[in-house]
Amino acid sequence: MSTIEALLSRVSVPRVIEPGVSSLELDLILRAGLRACDHGRLKPYRFILLEGEARVRLGEAMSDYLYGGLVDASEDAIEAAKNKALRAPTLLSVIFCPRNHEKIPETEQVITAGCAAQLIVTAAHMLGLGAIWRTGSAIYSEDVSRMLELDENEQVVAMIYLGRSAGDMPSPPEVDPETFLERL
Ligand SMILES: Cc1cc2nc3c(=O)[nH]c(=O)nc-3n(C[C@H](O)[C@H](O)[C@H](O)COP(=O)(O)O)c2cc1C
Repeated sequence: MSTIEALLSRVSVPRVIEPGVSSLELDLILRAGLRACDHGRLKPYRFILLEGEARVRLGEAMSDYLYGGLVDASEDAIEAAKNKALRAPTLLSVIFCPRNHEKIPETEQVITAGCAAQLIVTAAHMLGLGAIWRTGSAIYSEDVSRMLELDENEQVVAMIYLGRSAGDMPSPPEVDPETFLERL
């Protein structure tokens, strides 16, 4: 498959299984993330790897956010929330870290962090891994920020679930690029 075919066939893979990402794959994936377009080369992001027991702690933090304050939460719902972080052997979190810069606004820096996340899922796909970018209110919560030991001004941009595709790699939907293009 050519590089452009690999790029165009990228698709999210919701069901991934062991084995997780190897150290060589991780190195390449991180290098891809670090090639994000980045005004001023501020690198307004960092990455956090969660494997093994760290995923259990993430699941507990997500469950604490969703059900910690509820007295009538069912055991099943609490257990389901805890298990969410166990849906992949490797989780890679992309954290937005704003940098002070007189000319480069924070919105541009958030975009850069998002580009890093996009390059990570794209590189994972090109390496034959399954990947999906996930977020949600629990991931954005203070419980999860505390678990990830984020600084006050930092914020999760993506929780990327990585592993081997549990089935055949799905095909992306057909989209006609012309419908997204205007010519002046
Ligand atoms: C900022 C952002 C947040 C997302 N959060 C979630 C999420 O919480 N759960 C989910 O299933 N998909 C989420 N997605 C979408 C998937 O990663 C995926 O891109 C989408 O389902 C489209 O599938 P495709 O990538 O195969 O085209 C998010 C995407 C972005 C860019």
